[in-house]
Amino acid sequence: MADIPIIWILGGPGCGKGTQCAKIVEKYGFTHLSSGDLLRNEVASGSDKGRQLQAVMASGGLVSNDEVLSLLNDAIARAKGSSKGFLIDGYPRQKNQGIEFEARIAPADLALYFECSEDTMVQRIMARAAASSVKRDDDNEKTIRARLLTFKQNTNAILELYEPKTLTINAERDVDDIFLEVVQAIDCVLKKKQQNAAAQC
Ligand code: AP5
Repeated sequence: MADIPIIWILGGPGCGKGTQCAKIVEKYGFTHLSSGDLLRNEVASGSDKGRQLQAVMASGGLVSNDEVLSLLNDAIARAKGSSKGFLIDGYPRQKNQGIEFEARIAPADLALYFECSEDTMVQRIMARAAASSVKRDDDNEKTIRARLLTFKQNTNAILELYEPKTLTINAERDVDDIFLEVVQAIDCVLKKKQQNAAAQC
């Protein structure tokens, strides 16, 4: 794992994490693992565990890290042999999630934090919900407010702990302008990885 980048994608609900991840995948071919998507897949399976997860997600709270980390760990193990890099989208959402990820899986090389105002995030989610044929259960005003509160309660501690490897990006701009900054940061990580690999030869 030391030879490929691991990048955490942080930011509140609707800030544009998934949008930027899609562009990163297109340019770099990285493996995109969204904690929310992994959980929604589990819910869609109709299992008992899925029903419990759905209740937590509908409340806007956080699922237990044992569940999330185990889903991420399995997905990383499946992709590891062929992956060019991992985008871990929507994780960590609590300081301890980051600590456990790095202890059990590998250190993250970079965290990209997409900073966005609450008003913009709510507007973006409501617009997404209005435009989508399949509306997410948690994309309603009440749950969005709860998701924002959960985000606010946990994010400063994450940003403080991982300050040395976090880049904060103003996400209130055009998608392509944001992406230019994302590319600079990822290119820098890739260059450092190549230099480290060369130094070990
Ligand atoms: P999750 O699925 O991760 O949802 P989220 O964080 O609330 O984020 P979204 O997926 O809603 O938004 P996004 O930031 O990806 O924005 P997008 O690119 O779609 O989590 C859901 C739930 O799962 C959580 O509440 C929790 O219960 C549980 N969970 C997940 N991870 C967990 C964890 N680690 N631990 C415990 N529980 C966990 O963009 C939104 C809209 O805006 C789109 O329509 C897009 O086109 C538009 N847009 C994007 N960028 C721009 C821009 N620059 N300008 C204009 N419009 C834009």
